[in-house]
Amino acid sequence: MALIDSFGRSITYLRVSVTDRCNMRCLYCRVGDERLSVESRELLTLEELTRLIRIFSLLGIEKIRITGGEPLLRKNLVGLVQDLTVIPGIREVSLSTNALLLERFADSLKQAGLRRVNVSLDSLNADTFAKVTRGGRLEVVLQGIHAAVVAGLNPVKVNMVVMRGVNDEEIPAMVAFARGHGLVLRFIETMPIGEAGLRMDQCYMSAAEILDRVQASIGEDHVLKTGNQPVGNGPANYFYYMESGTTIGIISAKSRNFCETCNRMRLTSRGELVFCLGNMGRMDLKGPMRSGVDDDYLRRMVVQAVQQKPQGHMFQDEDNHRALHVMSGLGG
Ligand code: 5AD
Ligand code: SF4
Repeated sequence: MALIDSFGRSITYLRVSVTDRCNMRCLYCRVGDERLSVESRELLTLEELTRLIRIFSLLGIEKIRITGGEPLLRKNLVGLVQDLTVIPGIREVSLSTNALLLERFADSLKQAGLRRVNVSLDSLNADTFAKVTRGGRLEVVLQGIHAAVVAGLNPVKVNMVVMRGVNDEEIPAMVAFARGHGLVLRFIETMPIGEAGLRMDQCYMSAAEILDRVQASIGEDHVLKTGNQPVGNGPANYFYYMESGTTIGIISAKSRNFCETCNRMRLTSRGELVFCLGNMGRMDLKGPMRSGVDDDYLRRMVVQAVQQKPQGHMFQDEDNHRALHVMSGLGG
């Protein structure tokens, strides 16, 4: 069974947000004073989530990424990982986290069958880091990254949202850090999503310029090679810094449209299936599920939802985006 959308794309990857809550408030994700708690009955329970993902797996979803908010704030996340990894058909469960709680959970996540983690790391300077995350402690995050490497949640990917005038001078330092710790490094263009994302669009730096900066920092003798093998499930363009074996990716959501090869959909913590990060379309699965419909009914809903997946994002359309998703409920 495969989920094929109306543009011929095969949907094999589901990003699952387990909470909107977060213990950071990054500039590009939150305006700062959002209501941070959702009534817990609005959230899918872990049982409901597992049921849905089992249905998705029967339809051809093979990879799950758990996101938030900050997913490690969700109670019994390790138990969820355990339940998801044993679903036949789910080949990989991975996690996106800000790593504040990662030191505590890295080992048990690994034992529960988690494959990999992606960590947000926008600065290596404690003050800048605190500013970007509105209070996050760099030191704790670095300990979390270290714990993930030691636990074998490899390759650990670190994501840096590049913001001109905020952290762009740190591109060389970030390359050196990734190299020194054997991490995969990904630079991310700011995306005009929600009010916070739109604000940060003023700091936008294109993938082409980011790449120039990387090249300048490693010197002309060390040319970056373009990878011909995709790494991971994502829309990043990857480059290899051959001498060091470091892999560097650039996620250029805005400057280079990668919608053609999109393989994903998103499930919000409230149980809505979001077809595309850059469009408003979504389908509520929680309501029908709580009204008692059977698996077969839900399966048909998902098949229908996939047919509604739009061709591409609408990042160029500001008005559409002002009201658009709050990133914190979608998990990047
Ligand atoms: N622009 C770019 N990336 C974003 N993320 C969240 N909001 C934005 C945005 N407006 C991504 C970042 C972050 C992850 C949690 O989500 O990669 O590290
Ligand atoms: Fe939290 Fe991630 Fe949003 Fe930062 S980007 S506030 S870490 S959910």
